[in-house]
Amino acid sequence: MFVDWSMKFCFCSLPFSQPAKSGSVSGTRGSSLSLVHKPRPSVPMRFCSTLPLALCALSALSLLVSFFVRARGPRRAPAPAPAPAPAPAALEAPPSRRYESSPSPSSIPSSWHDDVSLVTVNDVSSSWHFNATLAESIRKDVLRFLDPERDMFLLQREVKPGVRIPYILNRGHFATVTRTVHSLLPSAPLLHGRRFATCALVGNSGILRGSHCGSEIDRHDYIVRCNMAPVTPFKRDVGIRTDFLTMNPSILPRYYGGLRNATLRDRFVARLRALGKGIFWIPAFMVPPERRWVDAVTDLIAHEHLSLHPAMPSLRLMHAVRGYWLSNHVDIKRPTTGLLMYTLFTRFCRQIHLYGFWPFHSDTEGRPVPYHYYEVMSYSYYSRSSPHAMPLEFQALHRLHELGALRMRTQACT
Ligand SMILES: *[C@@H]1O[C@H](CO)[C@@H](O)[C@H](O)[C@H]1NC(C)=O
Ligand SMILES: *[C@@H]1O[C@H](CO)[C@@H](O)[C@H](O)[C@H]1NC(C)=O
Repeated sequence: MFVDWSMKFCFCSLPFSQPAKSGSVSGTRGSSLSLVHKPRPSVPMRFCSTLPLALCALSALSLLVSFFVRARGPRRAPAPAPAPAPAPAALEAPPSRRYESSPSPSSIPSSWHDDVSLVTVNDVSSSWHFNATLAESIRKDVLRFLDPERDMFLLQREVKPGVRIPYILNRGHFATVTRTVHSLLPSAPLLHGRRFATCALVGNSGILRGSHCGSEIDRHDYIVRCNMAPVTPFKRDVGIRTDFLTMNPSILPRYYGGLRNATLRDRFVARLRALGKGIFWIPAFMVPPERRWVDAVTDLIAHEHLSLHPAMPSLRLMHAVRGYWLSNHVDIKRPTTGLLMYTLFTRFCRQIHLYGFWPFHSDTEGRPVPYHYYEVMSYSYYSRSSPHAMPLEFQALHRLHELGALRMRTQACT
């Protein structure tokens, strides 16, 4: 089935798994994911280190020369000026942008097929040990790129009603911050000073089906779920508690009939009420077509007097998260919500446990795994046009699991 682009963008269904038995996933081959920190040389330094110094100096010189030639050359007709970005400077400033042009090679061979046998999952529960030192150093390293306490939430004082914001992934287009959106933004960072011993980050992969992980998930101190995945009918496998819920606006037309009648609206509102006082996080300024759905949701939240805390990411978030991973040689064009959440929650959680992350069409025993645990839908994890690189993300996260920085559940819970 065709999946619209925005769906793919947000899916947090970093799939994951259930009982892969003694499996050993051998996907780590060719992996040079250096997720353990080393001070990273600046981009030019790294570039130069790969070339003889003289060559580098030479290329610098030729750049300089060409600059002069151009500066003194005949003037060309002025090119049409690019559309100015009227957003306040404070909203921009992705400090990590410079990394975007870094030549980090992808560690995953492009020839990867959707073949689970290439991946080895060693999730032998008894052998996993949390490495607090490593988790702490990842937290510190993430902080060099962003402070999730601050960057996770766009604050009311950072925008004014009526201001135009460039879409993060489509900079030629702008969204206007409506009064409703503005009124719903938090006035202070919502998770300020919060620290949890253990957090569950629940992806939406079909690998959760039959996993019996529900009660284990519900025992964590803080539970993050993605894209309004339904829980009640799947309670035994995915649990029921939710403290933090993300929503890609595109699910409205897809699962809630665009809220076009009262029945559909009631169903949507019921799902939001179940969140209680949790945080409802809407990545609103990612891509243009989402806009009217954002308005539909925010209007509804404003009128239903829900106790949840609506929130939207700051505009620098995406670039900063991408910069962090790029600095670890994980070159992901558009991080999935799942990867975003892991990165952000390193700030708040001592231990992070991942469930439902499994970007493959079958488990390690060859049984088919649906893309989502709650529906039948197909998806190509490897499509070149896909904005996500789920297997690459999976490999990075799985590597961190092996190192003890996080725990990725790829087995059934018993
Ligand atoms: C934990 O991670 C640190 C940093 O990567 C490493 O030096 C240390 O050996 C690890 N400890 C264990 C017990 O694996
Ligand atoms: C609302 O729309 C849904 C989906 O189109 C439909 O199944 C349902 O019957 C409608 N309900 C009402 C009350 O019109």
